Amino acid sequence: MKILIVGRNGNEHALAWKLHQSAKVSKIYFAPGNAGTATIGENIPITRISEIVDWLKINMVDLVLTGSAEYLAEGLADEIEKLELPFFGPTKAAAQIEWSKSFAKNFMRTNGIPTAAFEIFNDVEKAKQYVKNQSFPLVIKADGLAFGLGAVVAKNLQEAELALHNMMVKKIFGDAGKTVVIEEFLEGREISIHAFCDGENAVLFPASQDHKRLLDDDKGPNTGGMGSIVPVPGITSEIMNEIKEKIVLPTLSGLKRNGRPFIGILYPGVIITPNGPMALELNARFGDPEAQSYMRILKTDLADIFLACINGNLKNYSIEWVEQFVCCIIAATEDYPGKHKKGIIIDGLAAFDADPCVAIFQSGTTISDCGIVVNSRGRVLAVSAIGNDLNSAISRAYEALEKIKFEGMQFRTDIGRKALMYHT
Ligand code: AMP
Ligand code: GLY
Repeated sequence: MKILIVGRNGNEHALAWKLHQSAKVSKIYFAPGNAGTATIGENIPITRISEIVDWLKINMVDLVLTGSAEYLAEGLADEIEKLELPFFGPTKAAAQIEWSKSFAKNFMRTNGIPTAAFEIFNDVEKAKQYVKNQSFPLVIKADGLAFGLGAVVAKNLQEAELALHNMMVKKIFGDAGKTVVIEEFLEGREISIHAFCDGENAVLFPASQDHKRLLDDDKGPNTGGMGSIVPVPGITSEIMNEIKEKIVLPTLSGLKRNGRPFIGILYPGVIITPNGPMALELNARFGDPEAQSYMRILKTDLADIFLACINGNLKNYSIEWVEQFVCCIIAATEDYPGKHKKGIIIDGLAAFDADPCVAIFQSGTTISDCGIVVNSRGRVLAVSAIGNDLNSAISRAYEALEKIKFEGMQFRTDIGRKALMYHT
């Protein structure tokens, strides 16, 4: 099989790393990819869907996929379908659960999927009026895609008003903030759920955990994700079954009833509250950096699973995972998640080639004109290490991270630490 992966993120590098191990896969192209994907396959310097479609008319491949929400929201699946090529991922209509939080919240309300109580606003004055009478903390979310940065937990009225002003008046997320969702703050353990879906059936992965806040102890602003672990200690099969019955399957059946069958990865962000698991959001692709952990312990051939989903054959399909733990740490620039410098030289990448326990998945990297790896975005790369228990995965990942060096490198020092207390 020849495969085209659209995107340039770390989750896509991780998917390619896994697909590359399949005896069925002969070549992987990336549009446009990053410095890491260039070591696995061929980067094609195109980013627009029209360019990708034109490229595919000349270069036939057997499968196309993406891990990027933006492409799904722009209807990449729909365009590839017109070429009669297999695409792994939802159509624009099915992916609306991710690209519009107001759609997702109304969808969850209609389909009885447990989620935080909410209101939707298009008018900043009405939103400001509403928050005046609420108790805090309160969560304010831009409706559209904002690279994981669009949710603000406001601790008081001033923070809420500032968030509304930034999103709706200053438009820091562009049109994504024209509409906002204001919702109740929920407390509990937060986990990432992923399920392979074929439109009707779902096979859940083990639970994973992202670390969304920038700083240790879950302090600082939300980010696209600063690290991940899998599996999550203490998340029992009873909890996973409840999530499947109350969140995953009702999402699939609701979308199917709406005439938008969902094929791809359904990735709900879930919080385990005293009233049971509730969905914080519904995503339509592999998490980043969750995929960088998942791909290390997936045993089954990933290309086979993708085809089973596309062909509607997931029922009774068994997907196997290695019974080990993974810890993945993101190295970001010092100014992330704000505006970031570009062109910082990344040192130490070659140090990992020989260690099978460790893998580096790159995201914000590119190859400079002089042929060296430099950063291009704030989240630069992920170091992902495998171990027989969570503690050894964590220590190995931090040991490996010491070999990576770049100016202003920042990372959390507590990835996976909170989960250790649930470890048996
Ligand atoms: P989202 O983009 O909706 O997943 O939100 C990003 C992050 O904000 C989540 O991963 C949570 O850590 C936090 N968050 C979002 N909604 C809520 C909520 N209703 N209660 C508490 N925390 C939330
Ligand atoms: N792990 C956060 C995201 O992929 O959106």
